[in-house]
Amino acid sequence: MVMVANDLWKVYKLGEIEYPALRGVSFKAKRGEYIAIVGPSGSGKSTLLNIMGALDRPTRGTMMIDGLDISTLSDNKLAELRNRKLGFVFQTFNLLSYMSAAENVETPLIAAGVPLELRRKRSFELLEMVGLKGFERNRPSMLSGGQQQRVAIARALANDPQIILADEPTGNLDSKSSLEIIDILRRLNTEKGVTVIMVTHNLELTVYCDRIWYVRDGRIEREEVLHAK
Ligand SMILES: Nc1ncnc2c1ncn2[C@@H]1O[C@H](COP(=O)(O)OP(=O)(O)OP(=O)(O)O)[C@@H](O)[C@H]1O
Ligand SMILES: [Mg+2]
Repeated sequence: MVMVANDLWKVYKLGEIEYPALRGVSFKAKRGEYIAIVGPSGSGKSTLLNIMGALDRPTRGTMMIDGLDISTLSDNKLAELRNRKLGFVFQTFNLLSYMSAAENVETPLIAAGVPLELRRKRSFELLEMVGLKGFERNRPSMLSGGQQQRVAIARALANDPQIILADEPTGNLDSKSSLEIIDILRRLNTEKGVTVIMVTHNLELTVYCDRIWYVRDGRIEREEVLHAK
């Protein structure tokens, strides 16, 4: 199992008021699975994904990522886990506007201490893989939304992560660009065996998924298995 969650709770405190955004979530995810998380706004999807990606810790319960219990890891160890094993894709791309596509892809490699020449080679390969050969020197403002999200995916892949976590990766894209992004995620999953966890509002984009988790009021209310792995 690449991820095991046991009775996850996340309670946000707003002054005197406590709001439980997750109320007892348990699951197991196998290596190489492709899981979609769907549910209404405010149901706890991003809260759950952030804990699955070690961006946040649960208030109660345990979250094991690749055998490591994230509640017991120091901030440094969590950062190392994220850098080495996880790749993140967000709805708003989160690219650095003053950097070229290639430089954006290289940012995690700088953190990992990879020398310039190797970084450049890797960023060009990754951009080619997501269909952006020839766009390496473009800044984000000179790319379409779909192209920007492809740069963000290439950046997420820079350190060769075992797991990709994507929060509404097509939320800001038209339907054609959305399908292109979904196809890249599908290829990463089927051809490279990357575990993919994706939050989406759009059920049409879950066709390639192995399982769909329907989240409501901070719980996985129902699970649908499309392909057993
Ligand atoms: N940092 C925070 N502090 C306080 N409450 C929060 C915080 N983050 C989220 N919440 C609350 O927790 C609940 C779940 O939020 P979350 O962002 O996980 O929902 P979501 O399912 O991702 O929604 P959306 O589809 O709109 O992105 C919401 O009621 C939200 O207001
Ligand atoms: Mg969200």
